[in-house]
Amino acid sequence: MEIEQALFSDLPEISVLQKLAFYDVGVYYRNFKLRPFLTSLEDFEKSFLEYLYLKATVGDRIVGSARAKMNNDKCKVENIIVHPAHQRKGIGKLLVTEIMNLLPEAQVFELFTGKKTTGNVAFYEGLGFSIVREVAETETEPVLVYMEKWR
Ligand SMILES: CC(C)(COP(=O)(O)OP(=O)(O)OC[C@H]1O[C@@H](n2cnc3c(N)ncnc32)[C@H](O)[C@@H]1OP(=O)(O)O)[C@@H](O)C(=O)NCCC(=O)NCCS
Repeated sequence: MEIEQALFSDLPEISVLQKLAFYDVGVYYRNFKLRPFLTSLEDFEKSFLEYLYLKATVGDRIVGSARAKMNNDKCKVENIIVHPAHQRKGIGKLLVTEIMNLLPEAQVFELFTGKKTTGNVAFYEGLGFSIVREVAETETEPVLVYMEKWR
């Protein structure tokens, strides 16, 4: 498994992987109108240059991805996804730690995740993130928690 910067040409595969990775989350919430399912390839392409994009590959297949955006000394971490067949092998953890390594100027890392998907919350807590506040449910997001990790 290798982690490297994703290319614009990787976005079609990453876009499909996102929907696959979130499938269980959709089943859990009985809601396939959540943001990860509604994001189109065009949405990914339009915002590509705003982000540091990573991919995790096994052979020539992308099995994981993550993206991060800097705003002053804050780093917004988004779209951490690992193919269901490759979860719990440390790939998600490597993607997040690689973002932290590649952005030494970031003093704080922030993200949102579903409050009820406790496995995700546990995953981020294991990486040193803490829950700061809750965010109310919307049509495309369940109740979220905002989490931060300071250097
Ligand atoms: C959340 C996600 C990115 C984690 O990636 P991963 O590669 O499976 O996670 P890792 O193997 O790196 O996990 C590292 C540690 O986090 C914790 N962890 C990860 N997933 C967990 C779960 N479902 N339940 C409890 N703890 C979990 C464990 O402590 C794990 O270590 P261990 O396997 O040795 O016990 C992945 O499950 C995923 O893609 N989920 C669907 C998409 C999603 O919900 N993304 C996050 C949106 S905010």
